[in-house]
Amino acid sequence: MALDDHGDPSTAIAMARAFARDRVRFVVGHYNSGASIPASNIYAKSNTLLVSPATTNPAFTEFKLWNVARTVGRDDVQGTFAGEYMASHFSARSLAVVSDGTPYGEGLANKARAALRAKRHPEKLATKIRYDQTDFAALISKMKAAKIDVVFFAGLGAQLGPLIRQTNEAGLHPQFMSGDGAMVNVKDFVAQAGSAIENTLIVFSPDDRSNPAAADVVARFRAQSFDPGPYTLKSYAAVQVIARGIEMAGTQAPRAVAAAIRSGKPISTVLGT
Ligand code: ALA
Repeated sequence: MALDDHGDPSTAIAMARAFARDRVRFVVGHYNSGASIPASNIYAKSNTLLVSPATTNPAFTEFKLWNVARTVGRDDVQGTFAGEYMASHFSARSLAVVSDGTPYGEGLANKARAALRAKRHPEKLATKIRYDQTDFAALISKMKAAKIDVVFFAGLGAQLGPLIRQTNEAGLHPQFMSGDGAMVNVKDFVAQAGSAIENTLIVFSPDDRSNPAAADVVARFRAQSFDPGPYTLKSYAAVQVIARGIEMAGTQAPRAVAAAIRSGKPISTVLGT
């Protein structure tokens, strides 16, 4: 399982090169689109199959590399859903769309904006922050000036938490909404936002723990005092996909396994088939 840096792909690239040297054949990861996309090219050359439980940028699989798959949805669906939701639920309000400037944040923000335009309710403010920024005073001033009362943040929870807190401390109380990235490090997000987190809306897949296909595995985790987090079962499913691919291919050769998992034959996982 590969953890990595969200906005700076150098950690992911170094990790991919180290795995290539060690002849790692299967990787569950990476997490972030900004890491998975550049790393996938290295893995393609080093004969490594990559199954990501969290990478939602469509480009990850649109480059048509032989070696990528995902057990999570895509930002064209997520961003369109978010934009349409805002257009219908906040039709009388002033919207801001804020991206963290990474491939994930930019891709998601652009899809949400396109959906808002299609519904004839474009955002009043579209802006970017840096993925490693911790002080949001300049952004908050812009939001105040534009009288923003709904903010869609396309980025990770580790930044959304402080952004919500600082916005509230500055006397502004907009409706916040975010995507699946808010669920990355969700504990930090909740802790950092404090009580200002109330009423925040997050776009995410249905709770995988309630999926009947996951019942046995969830019970086994809980028996070990571990409650699966937002990406636990998506990661578990990625391992199941690789394992079943090896069985179907009758070999551990990554190209044959990749072809097997793309053959269209159903694969049972904790997320369903
Ligand atoms: N879905 C987020 C990303 O792709 C975690 O970066």
